[in-house]
Amino acid sequence: MNTVPAQHQRVLSGMRPTGLLHLGHYHGVLKNWVNLQHEYECFFFVADWHALTTEYENPGIIAESSNDMVIDWLAAGVSPGASKIFIQSRVPEHAELHLLLSMITPLGWLERVPTFKDQQAKLKEKDLATYGFLGYPLLQSADILVYKAGQVPVGEDQVAHVELTREVARRFNHIYGREIGFEEKAESAISKMGKKNAKMFREYRKSYQEQGDAQALDVARALLESQQNISIGDKERLFGYLEGAGKIILPEPKALLTKASKMPGLDGQKMSKSYRNTIALRDSTDDIEKKMRTMPTDPARVRRTDPGDPKNCPVWQFHEVYSDEQTCEWVQEGCKSAGIGCVECKQPVIDAVIAELKPIQERAKEYIDDPSAVKAIVDEGCEAARDVARDTLEEVRKAMGLG
Ligand code: TRP
Ligand code: SF4
Repeated sequence: MNTVPAQHQRVLSGMRPTGLLHLGHYHGVLKNWVNLQHEYECFFFVADWHALTTEYENPGIIAESSNDMVIDWLAAGVSPGASKIFIQSRVPEHAELHLLLSMITPLGWLERVPTFKDQQAKLKEKDLATYGFLGYPLLQSADILVYKAGQVPVGEDQVAHVELTREVARRFNHIYGREIGFEEKAESAISKMGKKNAKMFREYRKSYQEQGDAQALDVARALLESQQNISIGDKERLFGYLEGAGKIILPEPKALLTKASKMPGLDGQKMSKSYRNTIALRDSTDDIEKKMRTMPTDPARVRRTDPGDPKNCPVWQFHEVYSDEQTCEWVQEGCKSAGIGCVECKQPVIDAVIAELKPIQERAKEYIDDPSAVKAIVDEGCEAARDVARDTLEEVRKAMGLG
């Protein structure tokens, strides 16, 4: 049985538009998004404001990459039917929530986020001692909370941002989830469940609060979730009441950790634009061949007759992603015995990469040739996202005593 409240099933993730997408993005992020969209209600957005925090001096790349990025998502199989695809800056509620959350966020929480100091050290050529950069993770919290997302697919490096989001949400609910007559409202909401359910709900609540019975909590949540005639506001009250807290206005999300992709770059390091070792999703067949033919191999294989070892060779890492067992054995055996040459060895992976990218590039071309279709998808995604975001802001403003 699924016991997570429905709104927790919402998935949200964003990507900064800072250049063309490559195979690392495809294997590391996009394939995962494509799978998730059939299981959950998904919101995927272009984090253009986030990009500005580091690229504020050259914003041209953001505008240029945003559209290309959406095309690459669509080409990779993100479906506008199943997911909402939109642009962060077109949903101004993200900014408003960011501002409101900034009121209750202690500076120390932001200064302690590991990426703050790490990125400043890594991107030394940029002045990142800015207000916007310090607030980066809080803007991300607003991105997540404005949709009350339950699941946030991110890589390891972003987990701390989701943790911060949980803390901020908890603090928000703690401060603003108190309302006059909360208990009475909660009790009268329970009565609306009908006699039998109300009795069960009270019992589960008691065993959770008195004995810490986590299973009882889960069952009570599921029971609550399945109630048809209880308003959203009352559900928020009861989710909080169940746990012994106030009203839960902003639910705490969970990080859905994406396994680090095995996709190596052309030099065997992680594939990344800053290492200049990428194969872009848009690279032509010729470019792909050229890049892969000139890939370094085991340095021990100076001459064709010198044996090597795949474990010292980035080409082998490509085989691990793309080749079947039989081909892998052929590589292992042929490399160690100098039975095959490196040119020969590369061919199956060159073919595999080209075959993988072919349908992606064909789809990309359709969208490149039809900008109005892309525009329509994004317009629709922005509208759908705003509908949800507006509702959240209405609640948040009210809780904070604003009009
Ligand atoms: N910070 C994320 C990254 O650099 C991008 C991002 C912005 C994001 N807002 C988000 C990811 C909200 C998940 C949820 O990859
Ligand atoms: Fe690398 Fe293959 Fe050459 Fe061995 S034979 S060094 S695995 S490219």
